[in-house]
Amino acid sequence: MLFFNRKAHKAPTADRTVPQHIAIIMDGNGRWAKRRGLPRSAGHAAGSEVFRTIATYCREIGVKYLTVYAFSTENWRRSEEEVGALMALFEKYLHEAIETMAKDHIRLHFFGDLSRLSPTLRELIAKTDAISEQYEGFQANICLNYGGRDEILHAARAFARQCVEGKCTPDSLDEAAFSDLLYSAGVPDPELVIRPGGEKRTSNFLMWQSAYSEFYFTDVLWPDFTPHDIDKAIESFLRRDRRFGGVKA
Ligand code: IPE
Ligand code: IPE
Ligand code: MG
Repeated sequence: MLFFNRKAHKAPTADRTVPQHIAIIMDGNGRWAKRRGLPRSAGHAAGSEVFRTIATYCREIGVKYLTVYAFSTENWRRSEEEVGALMALFEKYLHEAIETMAKDHIRLHFFGDLSRLSPTLRELIAKTDAISEQYEGFQANICLNYGGRDEILHAARAFARQCVEGKCTPDSLDEAAFSDLLYSAGVPDPELVIRPGGEKRTSNFLMWQSAYSEFYFTDVLWPDFTPHDIDKAIESFLRRDRRFGGVKA
């Protein structure tokens, strides 16, 4: 039985028992495929199905934001074949998402430098963004050509440009103003970051936003990840003592 009663958590409540924002580094697709003697692309295809399941589950238990790492600024280092398979999979996913969005009620948003993606993919993203605007309640942020350092540089450049244009001065910059220049502008920081796949690093994910996130690492490979693993991560999260630099009363 799942730990969280789906019905009881359907509407977000004031005394939340689930985090408002969960972020996931969807890792382990390649190893999952290798173990089955399949090409790495088969692992990515399986992983994309798992994303659908997990997004639906998160919405059902009352999570408001789910941010997933789908392709990093460093993932271009992979073979042309693998990058091509991933890009084709993103296109396929977006085509399907556009069709099913009215039924799924999932608002999709994208974090990352999208300028390096193909015109077809960018067009699909723009279309998805436009349709998404009408859906409220649950938002999935998909990180594509995303890097935490790249995001910070992008924000720093935007701020410098505003200063040059005379719209602000260096001293006017504070944490809130800087957050508003990130891809994640308007989205609260994730309380919980989950990394399946066994690695214990962030690989350039949400560097600014995860300053006080709780981390949950598991050896389960992403294509094997189930709603039960989300439950386990949330259970672990609920046991943490979050002090934010203070002292517990
Ligand atoms: C994560 O799975 C998906 C992407 C990085 C695009 P990997 O492809 O990194 O899988 P492993 O880590 O090699 O098993
Ligand atoms: C992180 O996984 C990026 C994504 C899941 C999209 P990687 O597999 O690229 O990370 P490293 O290379 O193990 O650090
Ligand atoms: Mg990996």
